[in-house]
Amino acid sequence: MDFNFTPDQLDLQKMVKDFVAKEITPHALEMDKDGVVPADLWKKLDEAGLLNLTVPEEYDGPGLDALSIALIYEELGKGCAGVATTTAANALASYPVVLLGTDEQKRKMFDVLNNGKLAAFALTEPGAGSDAGAVATTAVKDGEDYILNGTKCFITNGGIAEIYIIFANTRKTAGIRGLTAFIVDRGTPGFTVGKEEEKMGIRASNTCELVLDNVRIPATNRIGREGEGFKIAMKTLDAARPFVGAVSVGLAQAAFELAVKYSKERVQFDKPIASFQLVQAMLADMAMQIEAARLLVYKACWLKDQGVDYTKESAIAKCFAADTAMKVTVDAVQVLGGYGYSKEYPAEKYMRDAKIMQIYEGTNQIQRLVIANNILY
Ligand code: CAA
Ligand code: FAD
Repeated sequence: MDFNFTPDQLDLQKMVKDFVAKEITPHALEMDKDGVVPADLWKKLDEAGLLNLTVPEEYDGPGLDALSIALIYEELGKGCAGVATTTAANALASYPVVLLGTDEQKRKMFDVLNNGKLAAFALTEPGAGSDAGAVATTAVKDGEDYILNGTKCFITNGGIAEIYIIFANTRKTAGIRGLTAFIVDRGTPGFTVGKEEEKMGIRASNTCELVLDNVRIPATNRIGREGEGFKIAMKTLDAARPFVGAVSVGLAQAAFELAVKYSKERVQFDKPIASFQLVQAMLADMAMQIEAARLLVYKACWLKDQGVDYTKESAIAKCFAADTAMKVTVDAVQVLGGYGYSKEYPAEKYMRDAKIMQIYEGTNQIQRLVIANNILY
């Protein structure tokens, strides 16, 4: 593994760092309070080229490798994990099409992303969370169309996307082997947005229920073959989980930097609290964990870029980095004491935002199952 970034990667990292410092960090607390990303920030994210990161060059996208994308999400995670999640959901939703889409499907999906609009990846249902193979939404073939019925829940960008990847079962009795992936456009008759979740953290991101009531779509919107959906979903999650890791690393880094700065400024017993060894131990643990998490994220992305199997490393990166974000943000609140618990400082937001990293894109229990399966079988 090469630890040197290319000049292009360094330029990209710097560009996003500057963008985040100017356009995201100053507004993060406001977005957390309002629970929304302002329209003008979408425009700026689009102009900065941050909404179509996975689009290949031949479809007018940036054609970035996974490591470069991770560097971008790390910077976005420093500014606001809610904004980072919204943009990362575009990458997540694009992968089924990147992996197996036809030329027509690629043009359709990438045109949306290249034009600053959003996409959503809808796998989860009320009865199918960790057990993704239990999807109950059905897709029944009717001539040259499919008719979809069911309910999806907890879908990032659900209320604001233009294009959706919907997983449905085309053979009810086949379980996992009946799962099939489809593209559904916003506004298709029978396709409606249900309730929006009121969340603990990543409040700038939009999370909604989706209802499919006799939604008719052309068979040309099916991605891959019937029954191929579960593998498409798993391969997509392999590709996207390191980006959750990258957002987690950025989030942890921001909390760490706040804790370091505060510990040097805050005086108790006539000394900066940074001079107390018990505080130093917390800062040292934070530094160690962040460094390890960052390297695991980079390694998973590097393996993907080498074109070799990386399912285990993807799960390791997501799991370790998410646990790191949780631990580091809890300790950052501790270093700030009562001020950490107050909304006067962003430490409590970092802590609330960190929790979801251990839950979405597969809980950290599920990541441990994936890791164990790859070790044992
Ligand atoms: N790549 C390719 N194929 C894979 C695979 C992978 N990574 N993982 C599994 N498969 C294949 C297996 O080889 C197997 O194929 P065969 O039957 O042909 O041998 C098939 O899929 C079934 O595999 P398992 O027996 O391992 O399946 P399982 O039912 O035990 O489930 C699981 C495995 C890992 C628990 C899976 O259900 C899972 O990942 N659950 C978590 C769901 C999840 O991550 N949801 C995230 C939703 S998106 C989101 O959250 C986005 C957001 O917040 C923004
Ligand atoms: P459950 O599966 O019911 O799990 C409950 C608990 O049981 C967890 O601790 C879990 O680890 C544990 N558990 C379950 N099974 C096992 C097992 N076999 N072994 C050990 N422990 C187990 N989904 C999408 O499809 N698209 C999205 O864009 C999306 N965005 C999301 C955004 C937010 C803010 C949230 C909260 C969720 C989002 N999700 C999305 C759904 C997310 O992926 C699921 O919440 C997650 O996979 C867990 O499913 P669940 O909530 O049903 O929990």
